[in-house]
Amino acid sequence: MNIMHPAAGFAEISLSDTGLSVPLASGTKYFNYFWLRDNCPSSFSSVTRERSFDIFHLDQPPRAASAQIEDGHLVINWAEEDHTTRMSLAWLETYAEGKRRPDPADLPRKAWYGDHYPDVARFSFSELSSNKEALRRWLEAVIVEGVSIVDDMPDTDQALTDLVQLMGQVRPTFFGLYFDVRTHINPTNTAYTASALELHTDTPAEEHAPGVQFLHMRANSVEGGRNLFGDGVAAANDFRTLDPEGFRILAETDVPFYCEHDGYDMRSYQRIIELDQHGEVEGLTISQHMLDLIDLPQELLDTWYPAFCSFGKLLQDDKYIMRFTLHAGECIVFDNHRIVHGRAAYSATSGDRYLRGTYADRAEMRSTYRALVSEGRFKA
Ligand SMILES: [Fe+2]
Repeated sequence: MNIMHPAAGFAEISLSDTGLSVPLASGTKYFNYFWLRDNCPSSFSSVTRERSFDIFHLDQPPRAASAQIEDGHLVINWAEEDHTTRMSLAWLETYAEGKRRPDPADLPRKAWYGDHYPDVARFSFSELSSNKEALRRWLEAVIVEGVSIVDDMPDTDQALTDLVQLMGQVRPTFFGLYFDVRTHINPTNTAYTASALELHTDTPAEEHAPGVQFLHMRANSVEGGRNLFGDGVAAANDFRTLDPEGFRILAETDVPFYCEHDGYDMRSYQRIIELDQHGEVEGLTISQHMLDLIDLPQELLDTWYPAFCSFGKLLQDDKYIMRFTLHAGECIVFDNHRIVHGRAAYSATSGDRYLRGTYADRAEMRSTYRALVSEGRFKA
């Protein structure tokens, strides 16, 4: 091992065969040579903002010939290349512990309950289209609370597309780019009848069910048909306290979902309760009408089914469910992996009811949010 003494100060950088240890404000930290060479600031193009350096083309594994600290920067002279790397010590702190890079879109979720309707974040279509700060607050509401209502929507097909494109792209499902919810003579889906629709998340049979759902009410003059929305995070967090073992089973067991008709046979395995990278409840996948015949060992079902039923009952409790009428001209935008939704039965002959819906990806929503709030790696 070669010990280098920096020109200024008493801190030491020690070089090894695979990397170096550098004194940072948080203590001495080790960095791998491949990582240091690959992430040299010169490895990135300020025009494309992509990495332009190709580590596959190095003839030898990267190795420092010498390293020192200058003006708060680590300066490395590479052994096998005529190249110098200069990195800020403060910047190195971010990566010193091997933790994920801070993400401005990784905001703590705020659970809500059945009395939330008056507090649902509301925006007008025109302000979202013209005001970046309103757009930022809208995306933040969907990330944090999982639900928002956009009003003053034009009564056109294009309005829904335009709203989605403020956060991302329309995400097709196997039903296509959009779906229309009104009574059908030969329904292929409970939604297309006037019956009650129990609380669910959409398209659980897809490998990756879409993350954000948009329901644009175009006409609603029927009797009944109130909309039901509940926060799966609030219910699952309470379930975690009430029945930790039941919670664990629902969060760890993959169960089959399906959607089948003449020309399609979609199948997937999902977990009822979904956890995020922190182990916190991220959301749910739940749908009684699309839960397939469960093909798990029958003995496992001795514990899975009681947990599923007690969680399902909890989720339907008035404590969690907002009941309201979505009016014509309103579009509810919600996290399809978090917010359960349903509908009371309505009288199909009492008036018109027409909803047009579509989806977007959560990742695209977060991307737009980050672009609105963060500095970006090459922004001035
Ligand atoms: Fe639905």
